[in-house]
Amino acid sequence: MKKILVTGGLGFIGSHTVVELQNKGFEVVIIDDLSNSKIDVLENITEITGIKPLFHEIDLRVKADVTSFFDTNKVDGVIHFAAFKAVGESIQKPLAYYENNIGSLVYLLQEMKNRNIDHFIFCSSCTVYGQADALPINENAPVKKAESTYGNTKQIGEEIIAESCKAYNMNAIALRYFNPIGAHESIKIGELPLGVPQNLIPFITQTAAGLRKELSVFGADYDTSDGTAVRDYIHVVDLAKAHIAALERLINKKNKANFEFFNVGTGIGSSVLEVITAFEKATGKPLNYKIVGRREGDIVAAYADTTIANKELNWKTEKSLEAALAAAWKWQQQQ
Ligand code: UD1
Repeated sequence: MKKILVTGGLGFIGSHTVVELQNKGFEVVIIDDLSNSKIDVLENITEITGIKPLFHEIDLRVKADVTSFFDTNKVDGVIHFAAFKAVGESIQKPLAYYENNIGSLVYLLQEMKNRNIDHFIFCSSCTVYGQADALPINENAPVKKAESTYGNTKQIGEEIIAESCKAYNMNAIALRYFNPIGAHESIKIGELPLGVPQNLIPFITQTAAGLRKELSVFGADYDTSDGTAVRDYIHVVDLAKAHIAALERLINKKNKANFEFFNVGTGIGSSVLEVITAFEKATGKPLNYKIVGRREGDIVAAYADTTIANKELNWKTEKSLEAALAAAWKWQQQQ
């Protein structure tokens, strides 16, 4: 049985990935500093899978603690989620973002290199493409200059991994996520945004729950079918399964290069108004919303060409937008 370190394993995507790893028979050890997650998630994962993952509360910025973890834990691979992820905040606090998102990555890779731990999965983002010139976006689309420090940490992160793989003969896969949404069907784990949500789906569910007065739709004058911006919303459980597929590709030595990257989305673009309609249909809840001006930094449209990921990872999404929105709503209701 392979033992996998999952950093940020109590967070939104991390916790769903831990569940899928355990369901597949992997042994999991989680590192999380609880800066944007709750310790209860460990119990909830245990309830879903019947297995309590090992857990260490470690801040990955503390190099000595990272080294000491690897001194006392033998792992076969690492899935690295732990990072700051608020786009706006990243522009206010670039050094904090570089220290955490880049510093931690370097420390992890150093320990892996020193101990010949070979398999690394990195959580990247479709943000690396910026506003792509062509849709759907495939992996050959150029990486554009990052619009935020957060986006830059993903670009630099990929470069650091690519160079490390080449120099030290390590193997890694970066998964470029589109927009992850939803919650586990058990409704025991889901997204826990701090404060006022910046992302669309938590804002929608909090509005439907009466916690927010109305949703502001940012811009209805885009060059899209209904004027609102288009994204590729992927159910977090489908996304979690992509990590298992990527890990198995490395373990089974099916990778075609030391460093590979794949787009992880559904391939379907949905506008903000289409998401609202789908939410109302899936939940029977009418949603208060109004159209306001565009949000600075937003792109018009992004959705994935999933051809390469489907083929190479032998993976595809199984869940619909409606199912993801229904799960997000159930999750909101039991908060
Ligand atoms: C954002 C980040 C992206 C990050 C992703 C992680 C920005 C510019 N981009 O993506 O880098 O990887 O989150 O989840 O912040 N919307 C509204 N009203 C709202 C909230 C959102 O109309 O209250 C619209 C947005 O304008 C956008 C769509 O909904 O068109 C999705 O927004 P969001 O969930 O924030 O995701 P992204 O902006 O795609």
